[in-house]
Amino acid sequence: MDGNGRWANERGLARQQGHRAGAEHIRGVLERFAEHEIPVLTLFAFSTENWGRPRTEIDYLLRLAGRTIDRELDALHEAGIRLQHIGDLDAVPDALQRKVEAAVKLTAGNDRMTVNLAFNYGGRADVVQAVRQLVADGVQPADVTEEAITCRLATADMPAPDLLVRTGGEHRISNFLVWQAAYAEYYFTPTLWPDFGPADVDAALVEFSRRRRRFGLVPGNGADGAS
Ligand code: FPP
Repeated sequence: MDGNGRWANERGLARQQGHRAGAEHIRGVLERFAEHEIPVLTLFAFSTENWGRPRTEIDYLLRLAGRTIDRELDALHEAGIRLQHIGDLDAVPDALQRKVEAAVKLTAGNDRMTVNLAFNYGGRADVVQAVRQLVADGVQPADVTEEAITCRLATADMPAPDLLVRTGGEHRISNFLVWQAAYAEYYFTPTLWPDFGPADVDAALVEFSRRRRRFGLVPGNGADGAS
């Protein structure tokens, strides 16, 4: 969800107001993905690198995350959305940790769409913790497989992402789902996150539908079309 700061700057507002605008329209975007029957959507809300931002901005983002959960939870629950979380919650304030855990518990039985909140998440850190688990589990070198790592990642019970959308004009993934997105399709849009609405969701999905995914195989040999 990149571009909040620039959106605010363009309007002569404080960066915080860009984050607030970005948080306020999340629901509309989620609803649009749900209407398209997307089963799992991961929102990158706070990266492990974001701790390097000015303290006032970090504190604002932590408060905003709590307020956004408070404001949106009932509507998301009623819409059949299951909330999940990936990332290290131990480092966030207790109150926010409890809010996230309560939201995950409340919505655990919903099955329309899973919204996975990546908060204090870093893709490489997740691979490191998976490898630590492998070692702790006593897995022998010959048994270290891709599957053995995948099933120890925070996303173990989720499918690999098919589409990765980055707003805000940058063409990089910034430590997001680095292992899982090996075969994702990438969609980069200059639209700043607070301006990214339902029509942009439609555009991203139309573009995705035009991609031909080959997963390293040869077209016409079981790997063309929608494979
Ligand atoms: C990146 O824009 C955005 C963030 C670091 C924060 C995104 C978080 C929210 C919208 C709140 C979401 C809360 C929940 C609970 C879902 P940037 O500041 O890097 O923008 P810039 O590149 O224009 O400076």
